[in-house]
Amino acid sequence: MPSSCPNYVRSYVNAARNFLSFLLLACVIFLLASQSAERVQSRPSGAGALDQKNDFNAALKRVNKNSVVPPGLEASLPRFPALKRWAKFERPYGAALSRAALHDAASGAAPGSVAGPGAAQSSVVGPSVNQGGIADSSLGSKVEALLRKMTLDEKVGQLVQYSAGQPTGPGTGRTDYKDMIGKGQIGSLFNISKARDANAFQRIAVEQSRLHVPLLFGLDVIHGFRTEFPIPLGLASTWNPVLVEKAARVAAREASATGIRWTFSPMVDIARDARWGRMAEGAGEDPFLGSAMAAAYVRGYQGSRLDAPDSIAACAKHYVGYGAAEGGRDYNTTEISEPTLHQIYLPPFRSAVNAGTASIMSGFNALNGIPTSANAFTLKQILRKEWGFQGIVDSDWTSVAELIPHGIANDGATAARRAFLAGVDMDMVSSLYHDHLEHLVQTRQVPEAAVDEAVRNVLRVKFALGLFEHPYVDETKEDAAMLRPDYLQIARDAAEQSFVLLKNSAGPGGVPLLPVSKSVGKVALIGPLANDSANMLGCWGALGRAEDVTSFQTALLAYLGNENVLSSKGTGISEGSDQEMGDAIATAQKSDLVILALGENAPEMTGEAASRSKLGLPGRQQELLEKVLATGKPVVLVLFSGRPLTLPWAFENVPAVLAAWFPGLEAGPALVRTLFGESNPSGKLVVSWPRSVGQEPLYYNALNTGRPANQANGDPKFVSRYLDEQNSPQFPFGYGLSYTSFRYGPTEIGGKQLKASALNTGLHGGKDTAFTVTASVTNTGQRSGDEVVQLYIRLQGTRVAQPVRALKGFERVTLAPGETKNVHFTLSPDAFAIWNDHNQLAVEPARVTVWVSPDSAHGSPTELEIVP
Ligand code: BGC
Repeated sequence: MPSSCPNYVRSYVNAARNFLSFLLLACVIFLLASQSAERVQSRPSGAGALDQKNDFNAALKRVNKNSVVPPGLEASLPRFPALKRWAKFERPYGAALSRAALHDAASGAAPGSVAGPGAAQSSVVGPSVNQGGIADSSLGSKVEALLRKMTLDEKVGQLVQYSAGQPTGPGTGRTDYKDMIGKGQIGSLFNISKARDANAFQRIAVEQSRLHVPLLFGLDVIHGFRTEFPIPLGLASTWNPVLVEKAARVAAREASATGIRWTFSPMVDIARDARWGRMAEGAGEDPFLGSAMAAAYVRGYQGSRLDAPDSIAACAKHYVGYGAAEGGRDYNTTEISEPTLHQIYLPPFRSAVNAGTASIMSGFNALNGIPTSANAFTLKQILRKEWGFQGIVDSDWTSVAELIPHGIANDGATAARRAFLAGVDMDMVSSLYHDHLEHLVQTRQVPEAAVDEAVRNVLRVKFALGLFEHPYVDETKEDAAMLRPDYLQIARDAAEQSFVLLKNSAGPGGVPLLPVSKSVGKVALIGPLANDSANMLGCWGALGRAEDVTSFQTALLAYLGNENVLSSKGTGISEGSDQEMGDAIATAQKSDLVILALGENAPEMTGEAASRSKLGLPGRQQELLEKVLATGKPVVLVLFSGRPLTLPWAFENVPAVLAAWFPGLEAGPALVRTLFGESNPSGKLVVSWPRSVGQEPLYYNALNTGRPANQANGDPKFVSRYLDEQNSPQFPFGYGLSYTSFRYGPTEIGGKQLKASALNTGLHGGKDTAFTVTASVTNTGQRSGDEVVQLYIRLQGTRVAQPVRALKGFERVTLAPGETKNVHFTLSPDAFAIWNDHNQLAVEPARVTVWVSPDSAHGSPTELEIVP
């Protein structure tokens, strides 16, 4: 300012300058504050706070950097009891933990195990939730910028999805995809199986559509893409989420090499009824195990960042309650009380959301009268409002159009409006959004703001996947990405760990029949599944090829030599001639040992639309079994199935039975290694195995009733029972034998009393009350083996009745002969929380029984009390 200026001008200018500086500072403070508020708002509710996650990431980094944890670190992990516990107890696990194990640890589990947070609140928070996931704060501005440019027609286009390949449901007859893509009228295509085809469609979207929005290609990559793993029921039977995560990662790498960036997996439906064919596609009957598996799949598919070219978006399905189909008949009605919905059916979905799943698929079923593809309570209230889900809700195949036969819409426009307003963002195949949504907005039956919100959900996923930067896939790398030797090794490990040894009684010489000695003599391999490669691929084999499978017979011939293996088909799966039967018996007679490979036809009898009302062996297989057994030869029965089969005669009479599910590409080598003792079976049942169909639905975590059967000094007649069948399953949930034996020490607990008030404070984010449970497990046999140690609790005295047992933790431990390990579990407040009669999650005063046991029916109980 010139010095000639009068003083009063000078002081005005100074005051103005000060005022402007103040204003500028205030603006900066306001901007910073609003940004951080935005970030706080973008946290998925209940998924863990951002600052806590950053703390966790820092802790994780420090733990990973130190393969041997320095003493000081333990003290610096107070808010992550599991990491602290790992630092303290689990060092023998060796070097740095895998990312997966650390995430398990973050949820309260030991490496390779899952324990701690109860199923209802299991919260595995991975980096894929916020950084590099669908809640990444960098996505918002990109989404908004694009959304502003879109016409209503283009917005609706993002919500439309068609199958452009092998259909996986009833068709709608629409095939003019290319034209529609060019106009920006399709957001996603699925069932494409070649990189070349994906690129061809993508070129139209990116080069010809006005806004160049890339397509998102999906596929049902359920248990592998080209490298097929065991069916999900088998994968869950490993009780090994780290291994399941690895399998999902392999599937993501292979699928993404073909341009598939979205899988309709994991299926996290709880299945309590073996008649339901889709039991094969899930993790069984338990919400705690189901939650662990759900998170493992999501982490595996989505990796640490969605925009990594080998990551694919997960889709937890079928939201919700689909597995409770009445009578086990697929697509049937479901009636589920609210406590059961919250405690049993929702937790695996919640776990998938917490792990960052980019999408959820709504179901086919009506839930308490309202179809789940038009259910605002589950889709809006629970999923969006309570859980803060920010990804895509996709309908199931034509489930929007199916609102008409359900009876809640009389025309396509109403069906579209109901599904859309209830929270279904994307319409799979039925074409009703394409046909009606624009008009519904124009006639003010649907607000455009709601369309914007759904489009945001879709675009957020597309941006998170990096599709705008990299819409195409490198076709030259597609083939080399498949079937890598390390992938096959994971497939073999998974198959071996999935087998459940159901029975192994004495053979000749009084020792258990399994494992078989290599010098057994001549082995007859008999049965329709002995040399069947196609069925090993299971019910949903994606791009798996029969020629890539090593069949049981091929592996056995390689192991024993042609001269030592006799083979005969015996019968087909569903039919068989007398001549085939005669040939099988003659073959058995010439042998020293018979291995029978029997079971279901995977694609026809398991999976979708494959409910069965009889659960025995199909066709003439039972007859074949009985005739072969009548030869007097020692018989090992290997069962291939997508569900437990009711075979009381076999379990009574056949000395050794192995449940093999459908094991995937490495079926043969895994079976041979297991039967001949190179691998020791360690899988455990994830569903209760019924004695007869009439027991279904059958599940271990049932309520006791007021008149339970078999109560000491109870009335023999007026109790809850069948006149002609036992109540108990043939084999309980969690059951599985080994070639060695394990002894469990008593269940020890870290106190005899807990306070409900303190637990409730912990439950709602206050100071945590961790509770420890420990038991020693000793390998009392002659072989090394893995044991899946399980922790169950029962609550009595609560206002809403609770199951007779509920799984709250598990850990797979490896024990050398004679070795003992103390297995520790840490239970946090949610393990004791129930869905109460005020529709809230809370801990109530109760008597608590705790078991650490080999399955859901055994173990020595110990008690404590929760006081007010
Ligand atoms: C199934 C879904 C599947 C979809 C797409 C439906 O029939 O229920 O599980 O993801 O088809 O193939």
